[in-house]
Amino acid sequence: MTPNPLEELTLAQLRARTSSKWRVHPDDVLPLWVAEMDVLLAPTVAEALRRAIDIGDTGYALGTGLAEAIAEFASLRWQWHDLEVSRTALVPDVMQGAVEMLRLVTDRGDAVVVNPPVYAPFYAFVSHDGRRVINAPLGADGRLDLDSLAEAFSRARAYLLCNPHNPTGSVHTREELTAVAALARRFGVRVVSDEIHAPLMLSGSRFVPYLTVPGSEDAFALTSASKAWNLAGIKTALAIAGPEAAGDLARMPEEVSHGPSHLGVIAHAEAFRTGGDWLDALLRGLDENRALLGELLAEHLPAVKYQGPQATYLAWLDCRDLGFDDAAPTGLAVVSDVSGPAQWFLEHARVALSSGHVFGPGGAGHVRLNFATTPAILTEAVSRMGRAVQRSG
Ligand SMILES: Cc1ncc(COP(=O)(O)O)c(C=O)c1O
Repeated sequence: MTPNPLEELTLAQLRARTSSKWRVHPDDVLPLWVAEMDVLLAPTVAEALRRAIDIGDTGYALGTGLAEAIAEFASLRWQWHDLEVSRTALVPDVMQGAVEMLRLVTDRGDAVVVNPPVYAPFYAFVSHDGRRVINAPLGADGRLDLDSLAEAFSRARAYLLCNPHNPTGSVHTREELTAVAALARRFGVRVVSDEIHAPLMLSGSRFVPYLTVPGSEDAFALTSASKAWNLAGIKTALAIAGPEAAGDLARMPEEVSHGPSHLGVIAHAEAFRTGGDWLDALLRGLDENRALLGELLAEHLPAVKYQGPQATYLAWLDCRDLGFDDAAPTGLAVVSDVSGPAQWFLEHARVALSSGHVFGPGGAGHVRLNFATTPAILTEAVSRMGRAVQRSG
């Protein structure tokens, strides 16, 4: 059996990294914030990249290899059997892909709906491109709220869905997504479904691709291997159009597809094609860390509320009972901005977490903790946080 990818690196090895997770904060801080994983590459992906470097295969990307690999993966894992390669396009990454899909179906000044608390760059990318953001907050149960969606849809042209949802890790059900599609049709709202976390289903969960629910035929989905195989630095992504959106996708300017890197296409395609065993081993490790985090919080930080995520390696922690002041929620903050509990834990426990306020309304008083790390680092981080709270009391 493939060994647990989350137990292969030491802290000293990780500190040699130069990516943002490891370099934003000084060396005495344990970084559990941005969505990078503390793993080595899946061996087949590393080998494909090495092979490309060895033969100097570093030119421009071409072809449908990534789309074919994703279609096969989607059919095997998600029973999505009609992902049509002819209705796909390479895009530079998932967020640029989201911007490009929204450009196809909205004009400057139009409104796009999002569900806060939500991945902070949804705000920045949508507004940067001259679209307005309308909030349809998740319900108190952390799930999509159809009433708030209907109200927001009545004023909007498009909807940027996070499927599964970052930061809560909720996996939308077929019933929920079917209801969303019916609402979107009723209001003529075009849906763009960000499915970057889809391969990261933890035990007990089943991913439902948005384009497989009835009523979604005029929607778009975006996916990549960036999160599940830790390839954020080797960029590419795939945009997929439903049958009624194919004409729109065909209008995407050709130069957008010049953005992805050839090495990105090689690595992402290899991940979807041959990275399944490694992914399964990772998911077993993440399941263990999800449980370990629950035990650690119960022992060291019983005032923090934690509902284990159904997917992703992100835990959304409700720290409001700790009573730390927080900035007003804003979705336009820089993702490394800290306030409230995240600021407090950074200063007093030397643990870096994502600050809840950057995820928009509903985020204040929360932190997002990335548990895609070694059990040893996770244990040390939560123990430090617990000791800091005890000292302060
Ligand atoms: C929901 C979501 N979408 C998009 C991204 C970023 O993807 P990319 O680097 O491909 O733009 C992330 C990164 O964490 C994410 O969580």
